Amino acid sequence: MFYPGKNPLEKNFTRIIIWHNAGNAVSASLNPCTRVLYIEEYIATTSEPGNRMARKATSSASTVKSASTAKSATAKKKTKTKRRPRIRTVAINTGGGDAPGLNAVIRAVTIGAIERGWKVVGIRDGYNGLLMPEQYPDGGLIPLTLESVRGITHLGGTILGTTNKGNPLEYPVQQKDGSYKTVDRSREIIRGCKKHRIDAVVAIGGDGSLSIADALYEKGLRIVGVPKTIDNDLSETVATFGFDTAVSFATECLDRLHSTAEAHRRIMVVEVMGRYAGWIAVNAGISGTADAILIPEIPYDIEKVAEKTRERVRNGRKFSIVVVAEGAKPKGGERSVKSREVGRAEKLGGIGEHVAAQLQEMTGQESRHVVLGHLQRGGKPTTFDRLLSLRFGAAAVRAIEEGQSGIMVALDPPTVRYVPLKKATRRMKSVPLDSDTMMTARDLGICFGD
Ligand code: F6P
Repeated sequence: MFYPGKNPLEKNFTRIIIWHNAGNAVSASLNPCTRVLYIEEYIATTSEPGNRMARKATSSASTVKSASTAKSATAKKKTKTKRRPRIRTVAINTGGGDAPGLNAVIRAVTIGAIERGWKVVGIRDGYNGLLMPEQYPDGGLIPLTLESVRGITHLGGTILGTTNKGNPLEYPVQQKDGSYKTVDRSREIIRGCKKHRIDAVVAIGGDGSLSIADALYEKGLRIVGVPKTIDNDLSETVATFGFDTAVSFATECLDRLHSTAEAHRRIMVVEVMGRYAGWIAVNAGISGTADAILIPEIPYDIEKVAEKTRERVRNGRKFSIVVVAEGAKPKGGERSVKSREVGRAEKLGGIGEHVAAQLQEMTGQESRHVVLGHLQRGGKPTTFDRLLSLRFGAAAVRAIEEGQSGIMVALDPPTVRYVPLKKATRRMKSVPLDSDTMMTARDLGICFGD
């Protein structure tokens, strides 16, 4: 029963029927009746990891002695929450190639952690700040404060620095004869974290960095991963941050190339990044109205691409735009690899130039190639990437608070969920050839060289 204007608790009720008006839950916090309402909010929201309302509600509700309501809240809590760890210091690291949005993640993690009373440090250049502190006269660890993360949400790059050399699990060490052998330095990272009293690490990276994070987790480090890469090739998350910015930039470049291609009646071949997946090529290619898109998932026949450009000429469209993913390869052929070095991923590139030369020779139409390269990784993140980065960073802090470890935060619209790092790094996410995006491309007449 609810008596308007009276405090039902004074009447020693054992069962209270709660008047529910969730919209007033926070603003009416001084009314004892509303405290009862808080309890209901608490019960309703404990299943959402780290929900702030749930935490506030717990403290508000603690003064309410309604037996049945309090009992059921405790019961729910017992079944839903892990033991919360004692956290004093959290470290953040950014590894692998940079991606727009890294600074936004750093900001969200730092603010979220400081608000919980934790200290935050940033590890310089991947794990190098811990592995080689002597190389950093100002310290391999940077204290992160509200001041140091102010005004960085919109900035590209990373204030911590990053590296895609020197995987600590296979660290290259030069031998006397000049050759390299690799050694596992992960124990040094664990020791470094202990020495600096780091209780948890937020590792922001792509497949390589997150596999390293998983290995460190297996060795006992409390660690939460945040999926970053312009390539969007991480499974278990609908999107990685950085991807939207890279696609938006590549699309703008295609828009610009249209006018010059048309003016000169040329074939313009545009090489985009993406490593072994065609996400950037497909998304930018369709949006930028390319005539052909070559991706690693579909080995191409160059004659099919040449025929597409000839057909356009016959139809009075005297120019063509061809997007080529750096990892694309011809049917029965190999990827175009620029270099291989010990301890780092092979460097792709050169396929755009090759395709342009072939098309010119086969069609007689003048062709040019453009490599968008690292421009796709630079600059400020799009709104989508900023928001995603901030959401990922805040979710990573909640995960640590809840006692999670060995997991990656993942976008699963409309929410962010946690997935085991092992699962997230098990396989690469390729473009599904039966997706509606691919069907759209085919319906629009885009050639994939197959
Ligand atoms: O993984 C991101 C990425 O930009 C790939 O698309 C590209 O192949 C690679 O990194 C380039 O790396 P680097 O910075 O070593 O040239």
